[in-house]
Amino acid sequence: MEREKLQVTRQQEQASTAPTKTRQVMAAAALEKGTACAVGPVPFKDVGGDGEEDQKLISPPEEYTNIISALPSTTWLDQRVLRQYQGSWLHHQMVPGVISVQRRFTARPDDVLLVSPPKCGTTWLKALSFATMARAAYPPSGTDHPLLRLNPHDCVPFVEVLFSAGQEARLEALPSPRLLHTHMHHSLLPPSLARCKIVYVCREPKDMVVSIWHFAKSIMPAGGIAFSFSDLYESACQGKHLHGPIWDHVLGYWSASKASPERVLFLRYEEMLLNPVSTVRNLARFLGMPFTAAEEAAGTPIHIAELCSIDTMRGLETNNTGAAGVLAKFPHGSFFRKGVVGDWVNHMTPEMARRINAIVEDKLRGSGLSFTP
Ligand code: A3P
Repeated sequence: MEREKLQVTRQQEQASTAPTKTRQVMAAAALEKGTACAVGPVPFKDVGGDGEEDQKLISPPEEYTNIISALPSTTWLDQRVLRQYQGSWLHHQMVPGVISVQRRFTARPDDVLLVSPPKCGTTWLKALSFATMARAAYPPSGTDHPLLRLNPHDCVPFVEVLFSAGQEARLEALPSPRLLHTHMHHSLLPPSLARCKIVYVCREPKDMVVSIWHFAKSIMPAGGIAFSFSDLYESACQGKHLHGPIWDHVLGYWSASKASPERVLFLRYEEMLLNPVSTVRNLARFLGMPFTAAEEAAGTPIHIAELCSIDTMRGLETNNTGAAGVLAKFPHGSFFRKGVVGDWVNHMTPEMARRINAIVEDKLRGSGLSFTP
């Protein structure tokens, strides 16, 4: 046991001083030997494969077809079919993945799970968490930092998408500790995942709706979408939108964070924007790896916040070329838009804002959580 520990420590030391290419090779070699090399988190794309492998989608088991066809459905955006599975509206292609995660995924005790509703700061949280957790191996001011060559979505895998695509083996190939992401409601998580450290980010719902709108427009083929902003707004008010209802998504993790603050860190996009460096410190403390005095003196938390800022990310070549995703490819650039608070004023009338505020506040009543001042 002691010898194994020593070996792991040596691997960590070697990994933290080796150049990027060497670290990738070390991780791959250790994985081939079947030893979970303690250099995680490593960028998912460096270990989990790329390009060709992404294309090998395996169809979900036949039995899922019956389960899925019996679920309530609705259309959303450009006639996408959403299915209501255990109270949550999922893209129909994602339902098999969620069922498989529930039935077959066993998280490792040291996995860290990032969770968000769509368009609430997922990309940013992935970048900040990866940079914070992997800072020993990849110093944030290093010129070969993975986030300088890879989009954050290529660094942190999306669990239910991989299961939907039949590519869950790629998750097993990742060395511990793994950094994983899901959009699943708390009530959908299998017990082993719900026991992990979870970092949750949410956002003021009106800004979330506006962000979805722009994202949808940016990824649609020329000709646009057969859906208006007010249709999207209406679906959000009714809770019938991707991973909706938003209030159930937020409340599940809010309650979990109140019950076990040491296990669930509840972040709000608006607060992160107000003070990104405090967010980084908070994240590091929560993950059990607070910054040392030497790291503070060296400005490590500041370097992480700068590396992950929207301006830095938007300016990188990797985020202006290529696409991320397994079931569907999304241009890297589509994940970075304005990154501000309150853009809803440019899209909603005061009456629309009052109505959605009232709906959300009603659903959150008594929880201690609120999105309106
Ligand atoms: P806007 O569309 O309001 O600009 P997600 O990552 O969950 O898809 O969320 C996307 C939203 O987060 C977009 O919001 C995007 O601009 C913003 N975003 C992406 N990267 C960011 C970063 N590094 N800092 C702050 N906001 C970021």
